[in-house]
Amino acid sequence: MKLDHIGIAVKDLDAAKKFYQDILGLPVSEPEELPDRQLKLIMVDVGGANVELLVPTHPDSAIAKFIDKRGPGIHHICYRVDDVNAKLEKLKAAGMQLIDRQARPGAHNTLVAFIHPSSAGGVLTELCQDAG
Ligand code: CO
Repeated sequence: MKLDHIGIAVKDLDAAKKFYQDILGLPVSEPEELPDRQLKLIMVDVGGANVELLVPTHPDSAIAKFIDKRGPGIHHICYRVDDVNAKLEKLKAAGMQLIDRQARPGAHNTLVAFIHPSSAGGVLTELCQDAG
């Protein structure tokens, strides 16, 4: 298990890209749109782990609501595991509150699932694996 990325909610993807790419000098991916989650994202390669910049594409999206309530900033943390569903079974058995009870397709050819912040010390926590 290793840290895969930190998800950051942003209002302006171009401004965020400028900060990470032009000012900090980090490589960034092409934007990828996840229509079912009503967001667009780019990945910043920080060497070993990534920063995932998330911008809402619809005012009803979870990211838009997060920004409305708390402002832009750190949204979630993601750990890479070998088998998301196996980890979910362990979490269920331990009585943890889950947002996803089954792994589902995520960005960049992954399978992902989210653990509710109430079971993760107040941190929205994502698990991911290669979709293969
Ligand atoms: Co993520």
